[in-house]
Amino acid sequence: ARHLLGIDHLAPDEIVSLLDLAEDYVALNRRTVKHSDVLAGMTQINMFFENSTRTQSSFELAGLRLGADVMNMSMQTSSVKKGETLIDTALTLNAMQPDLLVVRHPHSGAVNLLAEKVNCAVLNAGDGRHEHPTQALLDALTIRRAKGRLQRLTIAICGDIAHSRVARSNLILLGKMENRIRLIGPATLMPAGVADMGVELYEDMHEGLKGADVVMMLRLQKERMDGGFIPSEREYYHRWGLDADKLALASDDAIVMHPGPMNRGVEIDGTIADDINRSVIQDQVEMGVAVRMAALDLLARNLRAERGRAATGVMV
Ligand code: CP
Repeated sequence: ARHLLGIDHLAPDEIVSLLDLAEDYVALNRRTVKHSDVLAGMTQINMFFENSTRTQSSFELAGLRLGADVMNMSMQTSSVKKGETLIDTALTLNAMQPDLLVVRHPHSGAVNLLAEKVNCAVLNAGDGRHEHPTQALLDALTIRRAKGRLQRLTIAICGDIAHSRVARSNLILLGKMENRIRLIGPATLMPAGVADMGVELYEDMHEGLKGADVVMMLRLQKERMDGGFIPSEREYYHRWGLDADKLALASDDAIVMHPGPMNRGVEIDGTIADDINRSVIQDQVEMGVAVRMAALDLLARNLRAERGRAATGVMV
């Protein structure tokens, strides 16, 4: 494929191939000299219309470590502030001949729309509550490394599912890999129609966490709640925050995940987040760089092949 817009269009064997390539990049990133030239001569532009710490910095590092020329557009100081549309901004940057465009946008579907207008590869770095494909891929790599497999696991995704693109992308990926998925959270924070997606739904953490191999916590995404129901943080922590008592119900070797940003004392107890025997939260961050290197590498290969076919007159 030209773009990475979501997990939906990836077949299980493509997911496994990407994770296998990411393993090579984990090894490269652990060396003192972390450099490859697979993207040498290519231009990567990062456009983040929404705040980010992990995704933006890891895409930037990923591009730099692969030898690309990387530019971060500062959307806060761009002409978007003067009323320029997303599409006009994208067309303007497209005219500068980038090869890889990494985009985060607050509106679901915005990145797909943009991908139709440009002639480079587009990577979705999170669009509204729709998809965050590289997050699901880095979560999958983290799970595979910690549990030794990516199938037949009981995975509890807990919290604000309704507003979470991380939950959506993970649901799709982990479902494709034939895992048992439980969604746990307040009924008001469950998306409509999710009961038809082959998952188990729980409002009670104590029930939902029983025997789970993986416990994935999500924050309350208040920025997407549009004035709807927002539980008080104290009440939320009491019922849906991960503490030692609730975690004791999961499997003895259950791992704890969180995509970040994390709100300690709201959805997760800080001691659990920092417990290196249970928490793989920092591993997720490390895998994020490797997975993004693999995604950039694969899309660059596809783009070169597509351009090669076009140059030789082969129908594409
Ligand atoms: N997990 C994630 O997307 O984090 P950032 O918003 O910091 O990029």
